[in-house]
Amino acid sequence: MNNFIFENSTKIYFGKGCVKEYLASALARHGNTVMLAYGGGSIKKNGIYYEIVDILKNAGKIVVEFSGIMSNPTYAKVLEGAELAKKENVDFILGVGGGSVMDCCKAISMAAVYEGDIWEDFWARPGIFDFEPAPIGFIVTAAGTGSEMNGGAVITNEKMNIKTGRDYPRCNAEFAMMDPVYTYSVPKAQMVSGSFDILSHIMETYFSVCDEENVSDDISEALMRGVIRDLRAALKDPEDYNVRSNLMWEATMAENRIIKLGKKCDFQCHQMEHQLGAYTDCNHGMGLAVLHPVYYRHIYKEGHAKFKRFAVNVWGISPQGKSDEELALAGVEALEDFIKEIGLPLTLRELGITDKTDLREIAESCNLSPGSYKKMSHEEIYQIFKESF
Ligand code: NZQ
Ligand code: ZN
Repeated sequence: MNNFIFENSTKIYFGKGCVKEYLASALARHGNTVMLAYGGGSIKKNGIYYEIVDILKNAGKIVVEFSGIMSNPTYAKVLEGAELAKKENVDFILGVGGGSVMDCCKAISMAAVYEGDIWEDFWARPGIFDFEPAPIGFIVTAAGTGSEMNGGAVITNEKMNIKTGRDYPRCNAEFAMMDPVYTYSVPKAQMVSGSFDILSHIMETYFSVCDEENVSDDISEALMRGVIRDLRAALKDPEDYNVRSNLMWEATMAENRIIKLGKKCDFQCHQMEHQLGAYTDCNHGMGLAVLHPVYYRHIYKEGHAKFKRFAVNVWGISPQGKSDEELALAGVEALEDFIKEIGLPLTLRELGITDKTDLREIAESCNLSPGSYKKMSHEEIYQIFKESF
């Protein structure tokens, strides 16, 4: 294993009723003005909003609302939130939602106290983070990104056509409250997309060196089998508490840095999907579903041993009677079949991308991952886009 230092400062409150039980006490040590940040209004439809506002009001908090955080949050929205936080002297930012709300809140927590341009200094390139951001906490309403327990924030700069993520440990939320019941109302398409995002995070970590037996890969295999099992079960019964609990915690486990310890990590598919998102605003998990099988057919020869292991240990494929090549490819095929089974798209066209979209320009704008089994070129990424079309 490679050397590592591990730290994760986010306190997790998990389970049915956790918000009611712990929110007031978790906020007690903070000042009175709480910015309640959320998305397009799902929390009003399912009633989570009213539950939280009641708790805040009863705790004597002044609530400053910041709504309308869109999927694939933009830098403009971050600046709007930071301006409001400064104007209202907000003491605490409480984000209620999925990955988009959480990511936007992390960037707001920086922009609300930083004098310069956070895009230029922290997203355009990795920055030196030597100040305290505004304190944040999350109430998670959708399982997927794992943003609740890391410092990652993926922001889209619309003017520049760049969607990029940075992980600053100082952006870890002080706490995250995770009530699986809150995820029951997530639309089926988003539940599936979020679950595929979880699987993708684990695969992007697993398919990278080191390849010797190691704790991270062992945990990853168990998590992948779990996501596959739990998503199938959630599709049958979306209100199965145990299943939704598992999915929610699998999402966190995939992105709370634990399985990344000692691993190089790939995330080339994420780099490609983020740029597709920057240009077309496509759904994150759906974009990943389209790209993964095609990308893996490009790299499996360089990561042969791991792809064989994936086929056997994750999909239960028997190696008997198969050449190494056939076995490695059988795992990728099983992944593709699963994507079909759960109703995710397999082509860029299904994401609304047309032949008018300049795939070459998007390919040229993608970062090249140093962790891929095979060093990609922009030309090869363009080929992957064309094959995915
Ligand atoms: O906006 P509202 O009305 O709340 O509706 C949302 C949104 O339409 C809805 N939703 C969430 N909880 C719900 C619900 N609807 C009904 N009931 C509920 N309980 O779901 C829709 C999607 O929400 P969003 O937050 O956009 O999805 P997701 O959690 O997949 O986040 C996607 C964003 O996170 C980034 C992605 O790139 C994308 O921008 N990522 C962040 C990462 C990180 N910080 O670690 C890692 C990921 O790889 C990813 O890149
Ligand atoms: Zn992701």
